Amino acid sequence: MSSNNTVWHKPLVMRADREQLNAHKSAILWFTGLSGAGKSTLAHAVEARLFQIGCRTFVFDGDNVRHGLCADLGFSEQDRSENIRRIGEMCKLFVEAGVIALTAFISPFRHDRQRVRDLVTEGDFLEIYCQASLAVCEQRDVKGLYKRARAGEIPEFTGVSSPYEEPEKPELVVDTGFQAVEENVEMVINLLKCRGIIR
Ligand code: PPS
Repeated sequence: MSSNNTVWHKPLVMRADREQLNAHKSAILWFTGLSGAGKSTLAHAVEARLFQIGCRTFVFDGDNVRHGLCADLGFSEQDRSENIRRIGEMCKLFVEAGVIALTAFISPFRHDRQRVRDLVTEGDFLEIYCQASLAVCEQRDVKGLYKRARAGEIPEFTGVSSPYEEPEKPELVVDTGFQAVEENVEMVINLLKCRGIIR
């Protein structure tokens, strides 16, 4: 629901001005995949590379955001949708601010990811599927959550008792199950160059 009785105030400094100052375009790099697929690891590694070359960046991470902005949300389908909606709106603002926003959320539902895509201009949203099988993620079980989910201690756990809908047409698929992080970073950087986001 949008607010009534409000009028959009046109800024004096526009996105294009910020992009010119930054010498790169802004965008949303939307990393999606199962818990333990390596979304955060890759997003932070890409951010480090971009930061090194002087880009304005910020990583939104599922676990972190759920401590603050989305602390009131759980893992029902409805709450996950609201989680992704809020992050999408936040990313839209970051795009206007001239930033390359990187997100690491499971974001298991296609319609939620599509909603974020639709929120911004075509080309601003780059969906990056961190592909790692459930078996690999479960074997890693870095946080011990799969074990607890299998024991019935965590309801609606993605891949176990809640679905993950694979992207149908992502801008990029990276094999985070077996491929080294550095190789995947390279693939993302190449994508950004191909799309003219960085030089
Ligand atoms: S979502 O689906 O996009 O809203 O989830 P997200 O905000 O990315 O949060 C995922 C992290 O929360 C932890 N966690 C769970 N994940 C999936 N299902 C359930 N039920 C659940 N409960 C807690 C888990 O640490 C996820 O982090 P990652 O980094 O993905 O492993």
